[in-house]
Amino acid sequence: MKVAVIGTGYVGITTGVTLAYVGHHVTCVDVNPAKLASLKAGKAPIYEPGLEELLSLAAERLAFTDSYAEAVPEADVIFIAVGTPPLPDGNPDLQYLQAAAAGIGEHIGEGFTVVVNKSTVPIGSGNWVDALIHEAFATRQGKLFQEHLAVASNPEFLREGSAIHDSLYPDRMVVGAEDQRALEVLYTLYRPILEQTFTPPSFIPRPEGLQAVPFIATDLTSAELIKYSANAFLALKISFINEIAALAERVGADVTQIAKGIGLDARIGTRFLQAGIGWGGSCFGKDTAALIATAQDYGLSMPIVAAAREVNYRQRERIVEKLLAELKILKGRTIGLLGLAFKPNTDDLRDAPALDIAHRLIERGVRVRVHDPVAMEKARREHPHLALHYCETPEEVAEEADALVLVTEWAMYRELPWEEMARRMRRAVLVDGRNFLDRAQMAALGFRYVGIGLNPLEPPRLAAKEAPRAVRVEG
Ligand code: NAD
Ligand code: UDX
Repeated sequence: MKVAVIGTGYVGITTGVTLAYVGHHVTCVDVNPAKLASLKAGKAPIYEPGLEELLSLAAERLAFTDSYAEAVPEADVIFIAVGTPPLPDGNPDLQYLQAAAAGIGEHIGEGFTVVVNKSTVPIGSGNWVDALIHEAFATRQGKLFQEHLAVASNPEFLREGSAIHDSLYPDRMVVGAEDQRALEVLYTLYRPILEQTFTPPSFIPRPEGLQAVPFIATDLTSAELIKYSANAFLALKISFINEIAALAERVGADVTQIAKGIGLDARIGTRFLQAGIGWGGSCFGKDTAALIATAQDYGLSMPIVAAAREVNYRQRERIVEKLLAELKILKGRTIGLLGLAFKPNTDDLRDAPALDIAHRLIERGVRVRVHDPVAMEKARREHPHLALHYCETPEEVAEEADALVLVTEWAMYRELPWEEMARRMRRAVLVDGRNFLDRAQMAALGFRYVGIGLNPLEPPRLAAKEAPRAVRVEG
């Protein structure tokens, strides 16, 4: 099929590349010349594992342009994947969606075309996009008949850092539409993924046992609400365990044991129960705010979702409180942050806890040294006024520091020469914001180790031969 993807951000480029990889011809449209130049040169404009390799494998079926006229008229399916960033009142900014819909309307062909909202958009956006396309078409050449156009919602559930994996092997595919033809077209488009008939790339193998992906065909509004509900539910799972972590700390329990103990109940599940600094990123904060704003429009409140947000943003201040408890005075101290990106394996800094924590520390007179393996250049560019001291290595961050905070659990931070790190520091205080490091090992190296929701005493263990198989609580 011929596909156009409007917007080549984290979602758009992943959608374009994976659809080209499974056999479709895809033209990606963006308004950002630097992104287009990078993509045309075969370089990924973002840090996302596997993206550059897939760009090269699918190169002959991929094109990049800033021209709607090149991409839209011939397309059977047009994905809208532009950003919907938050406005101060919690509602998403829909100006990019509006511009994309107008651009499509100006150039849409007269064959049957399915326009798909892949951006996360408020309830009713499907109808709005449909109207905008008709309007833009009308200013060009009269009436666009319903037989030429169907608008669908196909929310995206990929996680940054494993975006290609999640797009090739999704847990489910949700498509909402009022027009039966749109459902049929999108089933056909996604058939290689739904039926798992493509050859997996060697570097992102198919999960064992995956044979088919459930296809959820529904109405437009339900599809739109599925996206917000999924993100809100995941967000509140994290906030729940963080709320329990605070109590665990007070009563001398261990939140990692609690997560295991409740998570192995299949009704609860072990994933998204990792206590820590809390969520960040471009989705959970924005989408929970938007859900609350939508509910308010309909005269409803969402106290559970609102509480999840409150708990989440309090976690960042709790890190500052932990530092204060250890150092007593913050003014004039030097504190190192390991990790800037909101999670490992991405360079995304949107709503990143590290930046928020850095800001809070700077306000209290702390000198903040930072390191991140991929996100430092972006941080310098996007946050020029945040007075951070960027360090080329984690060892440099440790130099003369009064404390270190592990903010992002990059795998490389497990392998650091921690003994040397401790030697370089003025005070070997380590706040592990992700319960990521081996606390016994860190204590043995002389660190004062502070985790989130951990019992400071080592709990009793069964002898190794009797120990039940370890269960990993996955993020
Ligand atoms: P992004 O900001 O990374 O990318 C958006 C892209 O759209 C940019 O490259 C921008 O230049 C381009 N753009 C803006 N206006 C345009 C126009 N008129 N025509 C063509 N291109 C235009 O955003 P993202 O993170 O990829 O998110 C896109 C949407 O997907 C959002 O609604 C988001 O909520 C949703 N989403 C994101 C994720 C994620 O993990 N990032 C996951 C699921 C859903
Ligand atoms: C999320 C959703 O998972 C995805 O389905 C949606 O499409 C976009 O939003 P993403 O933000 O990329 O994806 O990453 P995710 O792995 O969900 O992590 C989000 C945040 O929650 C990160 O800051 C992460 O550190 C934090 N997190 C995650 C926890 O604090 N604890 C956990 O147990 C899991």
